[in-house]
Amino acid sequence: MAKILIGCETSGIVREAFLALGHDTWSCDLLPADTHSNRHIQGDIQHVMQDEWDLMAVMHPPCTRLCNSGVRWLSKPPAARSLDEMWRELDEGAALFSACWNADHIPSVAIENPVMHRYAKERIENYQAPAQTVQPWQFATNPNGPDNERKRTCFWLRGLPQLIHTGTLDGTTARDSVHKASPGVNRWKIRSKFFPGLAAAMADQWGSAAQTRYTAQAA
Ligand SMILES: C[S@@+](CC[C@H](N)C(=O)[O-])C[C@H]1O[C@@H](n2cnc3c(N)ncnc32)[C@H](O)[C@@H]1O
Repeated sequence: MAKILIGCETSGIVREAFLALGHDTWSCDLLPADTHSNRHIQGDIQHVMQDEWDLMAVMHPPCTRLCNSGVRWLSKPPAARSLDEMWRELDEGAALFSACWNADHIPSVAIENPVMHRYAKERIENYQAPAQTVQPWQFATNPNGPDNERKRTCFWLRGLPQLIHTGTLDGTTARDSVHKASPGVNRWKIRSKFFPGLAAAMADQWGSAAQTRYTAQAA
């Protein structure tokens, strides 16, 4: 059976979507899982990904210094932070993205992140434009459900097809809770929240692509 690693995830939303379809799936994060799971590895993705995996999906690696919406901090740091810290965090974020993107021993890789600024792109080895940009509402079927949200989500894909939308809504009723999250200690958690409809589409479409490749290689 194909082995699947979901990186930088404590919520388990993507891991559980793959597990629900019977895939041999593990999540990994520096932090413990939000709710106990014997399918979570607490550790550095850069070490954990060195094992044999058939598919690695990195769900929103730390992006604060990579994303376009935060580029202003590289010239004027937020209160109590220095410019040196901002550029060091940019280097660290880009290095992590680069390590995941260039993990060539893993045949299928997906990385999810917001739109990046040029300083991030130029630090990433073998950088390519994202293969696809989606919105959670494109995977929603219930206007009042958790997926009917606006949040531009880019996917960098290697060895995986673009996702086919599974939703039935047109976006006109989509909410904006992620962008409107009020400042506070949990803001980053709300902003990096993942969506069950999108996770289910990934598990279905990418899980079967990884399994098909694995079965063909094993034959
Ligand atoms: C923006 S959050 C993503 C949260 C994710 N969308 C979820 O639903 O749980 C980024 C996550 O990356 C984790 N992280 C940062 N560096 C890491 C590393 N080197 N290895 C593994 N996880 C890492 C952080 O602990 C954090 O949980």
